[in-house]
Amino acid sequence: MAEGGDGAELGTVVATWDGPTTANFSFVLNSNSVRKGQFVKVETEDGLLIGSVSDITRANRYFERAESVAEYEKNGSRLMESFPTTDWEYTVANCRALGLYNKENLLVRNVFPPAPGSKVLPVEEARLKSLLGFEENGLALGKLAAHDVEARIGLNRLLQKHFAILGMSGCGKSYLTGVVIEELLDRKREHGRPAVIVVDVHGEYVGFADRNGGYGDRATVFDGRKIRIGMSGVSPRVLAEFVPDASPVAKRELARIMERLHREKREARELYGLDDLVNRVDSDATLKDNVKGPLLGMLYALKGLRLFGKATFPASKDLARPGRLAVIDLSGIDDARRKQVIVAYFGRRLFKQRKKERIPPFLLMVEESHNFAREKARGSEFFAKPVIELIAREGRKFGASLCLISQRPVQLSTTALSQANTHIIMRVTNPYDIKHIGESCEGIDQGMLGSITTLRTGEAMIVGEAANFPAFVNVRKRRGARSARGGSMESIAKKFEDAMESKKKDVEAFL
Ligand SMILES: Nc1ncnc2c1ncn2[C@@H]1O[C@H](COP(=O)(O)OP(=O)(O)OP(=O)(O)O)[C@@H](O)[C@H]1O
Ligand SMILES: [Mg+2]
Repeated sequence: MAEGGDGAELGTVVATWDGPTTANFSFVLNSNSVRKGQFVKVETEDGLLIGSVSDITRANRYFERAESVAEYEKNGSRLMESFPTTDWEYTVANCRALGLYNKENLLVRNVFPPAPGSKVLPVEEARLKSLLGFEENGLALGKLAAHDVEARIGLNRLLQKHFAILGMSGCGKSYLTGVVIEELLDRKREHGRPAVIVVDVHGEYVGFADRNGGYGDRATVFDGRKIRIGMSGVSPRVLAEFVPDASPVAKRELARIMERLHREKREARELYGLDDLVNRVDSDATLKDNVKGPLLGMLYALKGLRLFGKATFPASKDLARPGRLAVIDLSGIDDARRKQVIVAYFGRRLFKQRKKERIPPFLLMVEESHNFAREKARGSEFFAKPVIELIAREGRKFGASLCLISQRPVQLSTTALSQANTHIIMRVTNPYDIKHIGESCEGIDQGMLGSITTLRTGEAMIVGEAANFPAFVNVRKRRGARSARGGSMESIAKKFEDAMESKKKDVEAFL
């Protein structure tokens, strides 16, 4: 499309009512080959000014006065046929000035407007890549909109801190997450391979472990229903977090009993489970009834989660392995509390193990993160939030990176979201969410916020650390086979009826 050699002029800078300024300029197009989102350059006195096309307007004097057009065309006449209207059509691209390559070829802030009459040229690929900060060994998420250039996001830029993928339901967040995972799993060892762990609420990532999918050798799915927390590894403080309603006295007594049990079992070289703890509490003669009763009630409630056992599964070293994906598949679990405890416990454990450098640097990707780090969390919703906020605040120092995926940014913890240095924003139409994104995301202006509503599925805007300037990207196609779950309404309905029919045939054959 637009990217051509240096010679292919795109147009000429024009003087308008309010421009050109240091921040904005407009140019009239030579031909209609310029597109919104495209990067352009203008030769100026100070150096090479770079701009991005924020919008495009077409005008034609013949069609300026509505009443004249209506009057003329009323009786079946056509202005277009009677007059050389096309000769009077012109198109103006409005641009945001991004920066200036000065005489030393350094990118600096632009402090003087381009002259009207200056020629506007396409930006060549190499300059575009360096302008945006793309890297040769970066993650190829797709192509830049309006350019035939791959958006290769540097790993350090994206993961050194944290990032968020935001957008309404169906805009392509999970698909993009899959692309990010593919890029990470396809990395060569010499380029650095972090471990990837994804909290998969809907079982959308289990397809990575398919033998035929291309990633089966690098991905492990952990069925949430089989996940266990070994009591020997749970400190009184951690357990107390899962019984938030316990009184301070009850928590103190619980800690006392736990510590003793722990010591004894360690000396005996035995593991113990929640049952052992319940028995100890039950048989403790010094516990007052008004403490024992509620405490037992809470421990029974924890038992009901069917999560606490003798041994922990999976071990952190199996969750976090260099260049490999671990899918924590929570799709088989209905109990929201159980999911919260899993994310809280394993999130904290991963972070701690990483701090001690027992596991490789990792990226923890959390789907539906507004449920695990809710701004206004209540009750059991509160279990995972402190852990996610902890990793968000401190993770980068230790190589523990977070990706928050959410369709409800307004409900997402502002502490966690504000620590995300890169926002990948997909289609959002809810005004509250748009406002929230505008407030929590630096480097995004009103015009861009407006563009977010018009993005199509699979189109994303990358803002922040990962790209020097906001960039629109068309997310690439997935390489691997996708999860068997999900699919279109048509295909799911068809599959269902086919399955029913074959079952009926089996029954008939049996009879
Ligand atoms: N880049 C893309 N190329 C092709 N298809 C895509 C792309 N992105 C998304 N899709 C398709 O669009 C649909 C919705 O995408 P996806 O499931 O990723 O949305 P989502 O944002 O995760 O939605 P939700 O918030 O409901 O989880 C899927 O069927 C997916 O295959
Ligand atoms: Mg999704």
